[in-house]
Amino acid sequence: MLLNLTILPGDGIGPEVTEQAVLVLQAVADAFGHRLQLQHKNIGGAALAAVNDPLPADTIQACVASSAVLLGAVGSPAFDHNPGHLRPEAGLLRLRRELGAYANLRPAICFPALEDCSPLRVDLVRGTDIMIVRELLGGLYFGEPRSIQGAPRSRVATNTMTYDEPAIERITRIAFDLAVKRRNRVLSVDKANVLECSRLWREVVIRCAKDYPGVQLSHMYVDSAAMSLVQRPKDFDVILTENMFGDILSDQAGGVVGSLGLLASASIGGPVGLYEPVHGSAPDIAGKGIANPLGAILSAALLLRHSFRLAREAVYIESAVGAVLNQGSRTSDLVPAGQHSVSTSEMGRRVAEAVRISTSEK
Ligand code: IPM
Ligand code: MG
Repeated sequence: MLLNLTILPGDGIGPEVTEQAVLVLQAVADAFGHRLQLQHKNIGGAALAAVNDPLPADTIQACVASSAVLLGAVGSPAFDHNPGHLRPEAGLLRLRRELGAYANLRPAICFPALEDCSPLRVDLVRGTDIMIVRELLGGLYFGEPRSIQGAPRSRVATNTMTYDEPAIERITRIAFDLAVKRRNRVLSVDKANVLECSRLWREVVIRCAKDYPGVQLSHMYVDSAAMSLVQRPKDFDVILTENMFGDILSDQAGGVVGSLGLLASASIGGPVGLYEPVHGSAPDIAGKGIANPLGAILSAALLLRHSFRLAREAVYIESAVGAVLNQGSRTSDLVPAGQHSVSTSEMGRRVAEAVRISTSEK
């Protein structure tokens, strides 16, 4: 199969981690006789620095012409004072919209080898396997009007949260379709005691759930869900939620399973899928060769599964990550300060090697 990908390394640690993900993809492609065809493009701060646009036209063109997009991270303090549309993040948000990627899947799994990396007690976190389904094109991120207006000292800032029924319905179906292949449970997270958006959300979710009689649906307010996520993470299966709540809860889930550096994501629903680690650009550690590439590598696995239906290949990557962790490999985010850790590139090399070894036995 031809794996025709656009690679968007982006900012901060983005280039370092995507490089390792590509090496692992190459190892899988070699083992299964697929051909990788890559095109690298700029996004975020890297694109702002090059052409003063966080999502240049040629980047969009390359993305829509490819079969999937692998992204590193966007965000750079250099552009903190830019107007909204000239911030690195604006490039990512526009890309999600251009690609019609309304469904953001963020698995949060506690790897057996990493049980002791969680700040929670091992008995609480052991066996955690959550799939966060975050609506990605609605809510406060995209709602209009939005502005900061008025005279100095008396300015007013406005953002708008909007959801229409079709947008709620389509993300709900994604969550339920996933639940059917998992443990048949969906928790819808909202703030229906306060927000109209959430009241409509809950109504539509309840209506859609009737088409999935085998799936148990429950509801929680987001504040209470945040508490339960640290008290009993094992109890969660699929979490269905709107854009901003999903952004927050997915970082929290990363903390629960030991490190945000482990979390991968798939943004799907449109014609071309977008795959990126959940972590940001981490400018404080960029260029030091210590970032955890596993979020990016596991995003590459999601890319194979969702954009190419190559589930077997995806499992080889995921198993290789598990094997390397079992052997004790840890990047610095996974060890107490001062203890031995491996570099970004060494971690990537070990996963690629584990893929080569396991696939040679297939
Ligand atoms: C994420 C990030 C982005 C988001 C930022 C970089 C725009 O935090 O993917 O979770 O808020 O969606
Ligand atoms: Mg986030």
